[in-house]
Amino acid sequence: MPNPSVFATRHIPEAGLQMIREVAELDVWAEELPPPYETIKERAAECEGILSLLTDRMDGELMDACPRLKVISNYAVGFDNIDVDAATSRGILATNTPEVLSETTADFAFALMLAAARRVDEGTHYVEAGQWKTWGPELLLGQDVHHATLGLVGLGRIGTGVAKRARGFSMRVLYYDAVRRPDIESVLDIEYADMHSLLQQADFVSLHVPLLPGTHHLMGARQFKMMKNTAVLVNTARGPIVDTDALVDALRVGEIMGAGLDVTDPEPLPADHPLVQLPNCLVVPHLASASVQTRTKMATMAAENLIAGLEGRMPPSPVNPQAVGAKNG
Ligand code: DGY
Repeated sequence: MPNPSVFATRHIPEAGLQMIREVAELDVWAEELPPPYETIKERAAECEGILSLLTDRMDGELMDACPRLKVISNYAVGFDNIDVDAATSRGILATNTPEVLSETTADFAFALMLAAARRVDEGTHYVEAGQWKTWGPELLLGQDVHHATLGLVGLGRIGTGVAKRARGFSMRVLYYDAVRRPDIESVLDIEYADMHSLLQQADFVSLHVPLLPGTHHLMGARQFKMMKNTAVLVNTARGPIVDTDALVDALRVGEIMGAGLDVTDPEPLPADHPLVQLPNCLVVPHLASASVQTRTKMATMAAENLIAGLEGRMPPSPVNPQAVGAKNG
């Protein structure tokens, strides 16, 4: 039997690609920008496996264009780019890369929180612009992070990682989630709050929910009005969880003090976008999992998932386990 064929929609760390090459004929899209949708359809038309990124739409039409497809291995924990129902109904396994990136992403959420609260970005721009003349008693005053109240929206693995870090800063931690977690509450000494009271009390609101129809624009004009005008919003989850126009307005009129955004809607944001231009908004290009160690672990996990899918075995992290082996039977 010839080796199966796999299309990888981007170059990922070599450790993962090497694992795939050992069992499959691997075609890697080598450009910096993602392959256009129609190109993926053509390049994957004869493939049993696709290694996809969060920038690649994987829908039923694309799956139908690839009749041999057994597995879509997403190089991300989020899988809102995949139509999972379409995959399941076609017997195609979908997988993601959870856990390996949780601590790294929690580090980054904390970095954004500190940087936005203490105006690090504005400080570097101030120096770069040659405005630094002397030590100023009231220069670029920010908000304290230690002993402040943190509101976590979502208490999955990443939200829990942020809560652990917050304990080290003597913060009071509130969380809202669809599922209450008394086990974590007692271990980390954190409190459950409904969304309304969390937004009213929090000095920092950090988002850690997946993008679903129910979380789309979870943060909009009404929610920003509930927040303190000294509060900071941090988003390392998905851009469309926040209503971009409402956030621009809230930052402009000082309804909230600032925002630290790893993810935006749209992505990428053009350099002249108000969120990029506003001094109280810090935007970075979707970097939260971007450490050498974590991106390498994501690569090997995505490869393990993909290989298991090709072989009809249960992968380390299936999104739709009911599809395991469906095309082998
Ligand atoms: C993910 O994995 O979903 C992140 O957004 C990128 O690592």
